Amino acid sequence: MRINDVSETVEREDQAGEPETFDAFNFRRALGAFPTGVTIVTTRDEAGAPVGMTANSFSSVSLDPPLILWSIMRSALSFETFMRASTFAVNILGEGQQDISNRFARPGGDKFASVKFENGLGGAPLFPGCAAQFECQMHNQFDGGDHVILVGEVKTFRHWDRSSMVFTGGRYRALSPDEKPQSFIEDWPISFF
Ligand SMILES: Cc1cc2nc3c(=O)[nH]c(=O)nc-3n(C[C@H](O)[C@H](O)[C@H](O)COP(=O)(O)O)c2cc1C
Repeated sequence: MRINDVSETVEREDQAGEPETFDAFNFRRALGAFPTGVTIVTTRDEAGAPVGMTANSFSSVSLDPPLILWSIMRSALSFETFMRASTFAVNILGEGQQDISNRFARPGGDKFASVKFENGLGGAPLFPGCAAQFECQMHNQFDGGDHVILVGEVKTFRHWDRSSMVFTGGRYRALSPDEKPQSFIEDWPISFF
């Protein structure tokens, strides 16, 4: 029986399945059904060394004031550095930037060796080839269980006309070049990004 004729039709059987067992594997797999972009968030530590990590928890928050957020795992080696940082930059990766994404998804080490970057606000590294970049002042930090949610106020941003990298189901994906938008963003309420 059809229960939804607004967008795609959905079989009732799909909606009424048994709830999944609450283990880390199942939970992560279900969360992976929500496609995201991929970012590298960067800052400088107290000695001035560049620090960065791959993160897909980025989200837009507010237009006025301009706020964004991402969440950092408490066990990350760079956790204390980001908690103390007064500025950070979010590099939204462009299609094909898997190598740098993987490089910054490994704990510690010299992630910046032979990587080209420029210095943004507070010296936070900005990489070439991105789809967008946001330079932020730390605005607030909230408990998020085994993560902390970091909210940044965007002081400067840049955007290029190139496809973003997509992450879903634990894999990097590319948007198909002939993908057509379903509706024009101009028709939508301003609260949608
Ligand atoms: C696609 C992708 C997205 C990720 N998103 C996050 C995230 O949002 N927050 C986080 O804390 N770690 C995230 N990670 C894991 C970190 O990149 C990884 O733990 C990294 O080693 C942290 O660096 P550090 O230990 O040197 O601080 C992600 C990894 C990948 C591959």
